[in-house]
Amino acid sequence: MNILHLSASPRGDQGDSHQLSSCIVEQLLARHPGAGVTRRALAGGALAHVDGDYARVLASASDETGGHGSLGCSERLIEELACADVLVIGTPMYNLTVPSTLKSWIDHVVRIHRTMRRTPGGKVGTLPDRPVYIAIASGSWRTGERARQPDFLEPYLRAVLPMIGLKDITVFTVEGLGLGPEQAAASRTQARAAVERFFAVQQAA
Ligand SMILES: Cc1cc2nc3c(=O)[nH]c(=O)nc-3n(C[C@H](O)[C@H](O)[C@H](O)COP(=O)(O)O)c2cc1C
Repeated sequence: MNILHLSASPRGDQGDSHQLSSCIVEQLLARHPGAGVTRRALAGGALAHVDGDYARVLASASDETGGHGSLGCSERLIEELACADVLVIGTPMYNLTVPSTLKSWIDHVVRIHRTMRRTPGGKVGTLPDRPVYIAIASGSWRTGERARQPDFLEPYLRAVLPMIGLKDITVFTVEGLGLGPEQAAASRTQARAAVERFFAVQQAA
């Protein structure tokens, strides 16, 4: 089993989204001890935004691929994703949605003529489905009755990933991290417990 672990927090190992997504990876490894993990940090300039050639090719009817610039990078990231049996994403909420680093990864892997095609019924993904686990960290409440902000993050990921064929999506959340140290500690404990519960139930099923 290959696990691809994407982490979008610029805080590295200290990031709450990184820590919760690492907890997911630990649970997967506990159940599949021989699994390999590919870790890809997206922040800190690791991934550039797409370039002009890439935008030109995607705007045309061409299925051109290339070994340079964004097209080459896209090809490598798509290969990496295609080789993964499980995708784990750790991401903070930034200004109500995904950070631009994760958006850049999406712009590289959601590619017409490659990971999706147009049909009369709409866009259809070409990647075989596989489990996708997402850990989202936010400073305020993002879900439930206490949320005082719109959430364009989770609905966005739930819309864009199926476009390339990834529909089996499970989301974990750690919220209220900016509401004081006590709340943050309680949120972290709760979030980890939710991950552990989920995998315990899966194993029992
Ligand atoms: C640029 C920026 C924008 C943010 N926007 C939001 C937001 O819209 N809503 C929210 O609840 N928290 C927001 N936060 C707080 C982060 O989501 C929170 O600190 C989270 O823990 C960061 O995740 P990380 O620890 O994995 O880096 C923002 C933080 C930054 C730096």
